Amino acid sequence: MPEKFAIIVGSGFADLVDDAPAQTVDTPYGQPSAPLYESPIGRHRVLTLMRHGDNQGIPAHLINYRANIAALKAKNTSSIIALNTVGVVSQIRDGGQIGIPDQLIDYTWGREHTFMTGGDMYERHIEFTDPFSSPLRTRLLSAAAAANVDCYDGGVYAATQGPRLETAAEVDRLERDGADYVGMTAMPEAVLAAELKIKYACIALVVNRAAGRGDQPIHDDVETNSAAAKALAMRVIDRVFSEETD
Ligand code: HPA
Repeated sequence: MPEKFAIIVGSGFADLVDDAPAQTVDTPYGQPSAPLYESPIGRHRVLTLMRHGDNQGIPAHLINYRANIAALKAKNTSSIIALNTVGVVSQIRDGGQIGIPDQLIDYTWGREHTFMTGGDMYERHIEFTDPFSSPLRTRLLSAAAAANVDCYDGGVYAATQGPRLETAAEVDRLERDGADYVGMTAMPEAVLAAELKIKYACIALVVNRAAGRGDQPIHDDVETNSAAAKALAMRVIDRVFSEETD
């Protein structure tokens, strides 16, 4: 089976799906955040899902993550590249840069976070030691290198509940816990993909320094850095899809 790619994008990526036909998908969990848009990127036909909805109206804690992942599965997606905006907690990156995290810590709560409803114990307790797909990460990192994009290899993504941003003390705690990035959307996305055996990797777009770390209000930081981080991520995406896969 040829690999079927999807990208899940956050705010600021509406231009990706400009003229693509919309595919409405219903799932046992309800409707995904938005229709799926299938469009040619490089040598691939890629599904794009707007995580926060077509109008960006769905905050992170209200996203129907199960419907999103189930809809992509229904369209035979085998690999998901997730673009997630983050604040940076540690020193590994700065605003406007990108990285490919290799670990995560989940601080979210109250979200529908599993497809499991019982049954076999080994199915229930899926291994999640490496939450991001190693082959897909490698592929993204190679694409970044080939496209001459500075992209950090690794780092720990802390998934917080939102929708508010963190306090400075919370960010200090995240750093003590070993986090490098903080964002609100990679969980339960990553684990739901793992449950359905879809490869999942995250491009972390650093749009701000986390609370208490920057020298300007966070929203100003986001304003300053978003376009640069997005441009780097798009260079990686374009490069990945310019390559044939088996
Ligand atoms: N915290 C949580 N989520 C985020 C941030 C942040 O600082 N920046 C972008 N998404």
